[in-house]
Amino acid sequence: MKDLIAAHGGTLIDRVLTGEKLAEAKLLAKTYKQVPLDAFALSDLELIAVGAFSPLTGFMGEADYRAVVDNMRLADGTVWSLPITLPVSRELAAEIKVGEKVALVGADGVTYGVMEVSEQFVPDKKYEAEQVYRTAEDAHPGVAKLYARPDVYLAGDIWLLERKRNPDFPEYRFDPRETRAMFAEKGWNTVVGFQTRNPVHRAHEFIQKCALEIVDGLFLNPLVGETKADDIPADVRMKSYNVLLKNYYPQNRVQLGVFPAAMRYAGPREAVFHAMVRKNFGCTHFIVGRDHAGVGNYYGTYDSQRIFRNFTAEELGITPLFFEHSFYCKRCGSMATGKTCPHPAEDHLTLSGTKVRARLRAGESLPPEFSRPEVAAVLIEGMREKEEAL
Ligand code: ADX
Repeated sequence: MKDLIAAHGGTLIDRVLTGEKLAEAKLLAKTYKQVPLDAFALSDLELIAVGAFSPLTGFMGEADYRAVVDNMRLADGTVWSLPITLPVSRELAAEIKVGEKVALVGADGVTYGVMEVSEQFVPDKKYEAEQVYRTAEDAHPGVAKLYARPDVYLAGDIWLLERKRNPDFPEYRFDPRETRAMFAEKGWNTVVGFQTRNPVHRAHEFIQKCALEIVDGLFLNPLVGETKADDIPADVRMKSYNVLLKNYYPQNRVQLGVFPAAMRYAGPREAVFHAMVRKNFGCTHFIVGRDHAGVGNYYGTYDSQRIFRNFTAEELGITPLFFEHSFYCKRCGSMATGKTCPHPAEDHLTLSGTKVRARLRAGESLPPEFSRPEVAAVLIEGMREKEEAL
């Protein structure tokens, strides 16, 4: 089957061990020092191994890390906007020598991978925060996470020995090789990727459908890794996506699949990262709307679009599709943006994420111009169950 688009860097990475090599590596790993993986690092390990983070073959060494932090590129110039690192404690780092192989162990005691340690280094986290998140404040959830993780970065190539045990939504988990095969199977020549950590409301649906007018298929790829506590839980969101797709999308034009990465809330830099990763999954286009991957007021509404100007179309490989802030306009009687609607803000229906969550928690529905009734019903029910379970 013909691939739609080359992986980032040219080759889709595969570092998942199988067969005899796997059996041998598992035996040897028992003799290695153990390096603990938090949920964040475990998802990064798996995403590197299956090629979602191509061209990365492991956790970043200092030259790549510095180039990424300073210039949004790997040391060889390839576009890459976020550090992918493995933080360990100073005590553990002191016991590990360069050249040594280590076992990468999850919180459940399972050895998920091995790494050949090529170097270790101590990052300047404040500088990393300022460069990557554009703030050093720990009120920013991505920065808080960065500061909370241990102090030394261990680098080296990895191999995956085990897939995550009991993953959420196994029926929607596809590796880049699988999504590429699916898109080819469906006969899609162009595919637009859509990142979200929220339910799909009318504004999201509008921009997805605008994109669908010009490409063959939509890959709805909600992030289901670690998010901040007040984001709507992934299981509730998955139900809402299913009910929306069933009722409002042509089945042969859309594919739902989860993106099991941690959310960084790095706004503009994360938008570039999200685009590169979706290219690895086989998307040819990627939607970037208002304040993509933003949080609070840390980023300007369109900073996540402007950042793409730093790169040529050739370097990116995937085509970003930019959308303005979308809303329902009562006078137009339709979804619109400032590009198509001449009416003043009073005619526009917009609700902030915080307001939406507050309404849902209070059991109040959402206006049909904001959210499809089937979606609102799933969200209210889901939030009620969560509150009861607390
Ligand atoms: S994200 O943090 O995962 O990027 P979210 O789920 O809110 O956030 O958004 C998913 C995508 O839809 C992003 O590309 C975002 O920019 C876009 N988006 C969200 N709301 C709107 C809106 N009202 N108008 C235009 N684009 C939007």
